[in-house]
Amino acid sequence: MTSTHRISVINGPNLGLLGTREPGIYGTGTEENLIGLLEERAADHGLILEYLQSDVEGEIVSAISSAGSISIGLIINPAAYSHYSIAIMDAMKAFPGPVAEVHISQVFTRDPIRRQLLTARAADAVVIGAGLRSYIHAMDIILELFQDRES
Ligand code: DQA
Repeated sequence: MTSTHRISVINGPNLGLLGTREPGIYGTGTEENLIGLLEERAADHGLILEYLQSDVEGEIVSAISSAGSISIGLIINPAAYSHYSIAIMDAMKAFPGPVAEVHISQVFTRDPIRRQLLTARAADAVVIGAGLRSYIHAMDIILELFQDRES
């Protein structure tokens, strides 16, 4: 892995509120804590982190598309959009490298509307319910998938 390789992490709506948003479900770790964890793990893998959080569907679509030309892989938590955004699913399908979808909470044990994960259909891997560690597991998986594809 060269130091110029990048990995993109995109967080969807309300994930900028981590730490104060429903801490019983999402924990007390903040977005800043998450970025710190991601930067550390990316550096361990010799990667540069590209992080974006947006509450806007179109911005997320554009960010996925831009990430496709600079990053070896994509980790995405589309948040509420996971349950219904065809636009984000299509953007994920068009991403050239491996894609991992992440959910902080165990969506399958929550309310029934969260049991449909539309965007996950476009993911190579899905990590659910491990809190902020879900992202770290996803990063390790992306690296393995990238290396598999390269070999
Ligand atoms: C979430 C689960 C979604 O149902 C919810 O809308 C979110 C966060 C998660 O990470 O657990 O905003 O994607």
